[in-house]
Amino acid sequence: MERMLGRVLVIVPTYNERDNLPQIAARLRAAVPEVHLLVVDDASPDGTGEIADALAAGDDHVHVLHREAKQGLGAAYIAGFRWGLREGYDVLVEMDADGSHQPEELPRLFDALLDGADLVIGSRWVPGGKVVNWPGSREFLSRGANLYTRMMLGVPVRDATAGFRVYRAGTLEKIGLDDVESQGYCFQVDLTLRTVRNRLRVTEVPITFVDRTAGQSKMSRNVVAEALWRVTVWGVTGLPGRFGRPR
Ligand code: GDD
Ligand code: MN
Repeated sequence: MERMLGRVLVIVPTYNERDNLPQIAARLRAAVPEVHLLVVDDASPDGTGEIADALAAGDDHVHVLHREAKQGLGAAYIAGFRWGLREGYDVLVEMDADGSHQPEELPRLFDALLDGADLVIGSRWVPGGKVVNWPGSREFLSRGANLYTRMMLGVPVRDATAGFRVYRAGTLEKIGLDDVESQGYCFQVDLTLRTVRNRLRVTEVPITFVDRTAGQSKMSRNVVAEALWRVTVWGVTGLPGRFGRPR
């Protein structure tokens, strides 16, 4: 796998994931032993950063990026991507720490990249995709957000807010990270839109998303408000990346 894909870095952002990080790290290392893991911790008060350091001390495939304060999912991923690109990784993966994204499904996502995709999205909302144990209110929010995104932006993607993704390094270099302003979860929509507008190839692969059993979601009113605001602005102004509408 490594030979065809090149060097792969899985980036896992964490904020108060003490009860999830050791399990997800172990599952990742078992499922795809050749990939490297980068934990991006925003100074979690619950000690997640120290747990990450301990994992890194015992495993040369594990790395940690410590940030000074909680600055949002988008900002954490940008920092992780920059680190990975600088270190020369060929493939950069986004994955949540809480077990919602199953590392055992990564080989199927990698296959889609090898088949020619520039971005692979692990999708809940394509045929075969599933959500397990999510409250009805969260499913409604996610489906609504995706419907609004498709209406406003015309992106031909069913799960534009998904957080289980595989990027080619070249995709991130082409779409550009320097002017990304999205801080929260709308970062996912932002990068999807940039990828589509650069006429790169996006492939959705069905996944089973399992709700967390430990810790708490960081989804908040502010995260939703930022997404609603930005998607509306992008829909009206054509930003980010003025390459005209796809199709
Ligand atoms: N470093 C850092 N800083 N990590 C963060 C921050 C932050 O400000 N906010 C969230 N995270 C981490 C969490 O610790 C977790 O590992 C991951 O990001 C996802 O956060 P959750 O709070 O578990 O997200 P969710 O389950 O509510 O939302 C899921 O669905 C969204 C769309 O429906 C995720 O998959 C999102 O990525 C996705 O956009
Ligand atoms: Mn979660």
